[in-house]
Amino acid sequence: MSATALDYLLSRRSSKFVQAPGPSKDELERILQSAMSAPDHGQLRPWRFTLIHQDAIGNFADRALAAIKAAGLPLTPEKEASTRSWLAQVPLLIAVACRLDHSNTKIPEHERMLATGAAVTTILNAAHMLGYAAFWSTGLGTYVDDVAEILGYDSLDYRFMGYVALGTPISTPQWQARPDHNEFVTVWTGA
Ligand SMILES: Cc1cc2nc3c(=O)[nH]c(=O)nc-3n(C[C@H](O)[C@H](O)[C@H](O)COP(=O)(O)O)c2cc1C
Repeated sequence: MSATALDYLLSRRSSKFVQAPGPSKDELERILQSAMSAPDHGQLRPWRFTLIHQDAIGNFADRALAAIKAAGLPLTPEKEASTRSWLAQVPLLIAVACRLDHSNTKIPEHERMLATGAAVTTILNAAHMLGYAAFWSTGLGTYVDDVAEILGYDSLDYRFMGYVALGTPISTPQWQARPDHNEFVTVWTGA
């Protein structure tokens, strides 16, 4: 891997607040193709992505917020307004689900979820490398079955894993110190 590519990995930051322009068709295809390189036990390809482009986001937000309310989850007018104002600027939402595929009993569910998470991380990095910013959110009713079903992800066959908002950052992401990896790494010597 070239130093430049590694520099991108070291400098990625999430940006919740993104605006148009989002990636071009060609750029989006490359971003999504990068997800196909995620590690994947058993080649199950469990990741599923649903693109919600800007012209459909308002409609989706209406239906998701209605489903959240119908499920009895707390949703203050302030929270609803801030969610709508966030989404009004977002050029692209990528809804993420993990397909469970009950026909395969060898690979446990958590490994499929990990593969899907790895695919999302690859998307975040690819978007960053192309000059865009992204943000993985498990808000907007991610854990409300009726919200996932709006997108065709029934809870029997899928685990809905939220949304990636993708676009041009509204403000330049601030550099943020990351923890020293040494705090998280030990060497086992067997002694
Ligand atoms: C699975 C997953 C779900 C997340 N959901 C939310 C969320 O709903 N709201 C939120 O503020 N951050 C959420 N985050 C965290 C942000 O996406 C982001 O990682 C965090 O703000 C730290 O920024 P960084 O990626 O630049 O370190 C989530 C992260 C992951 C991995």
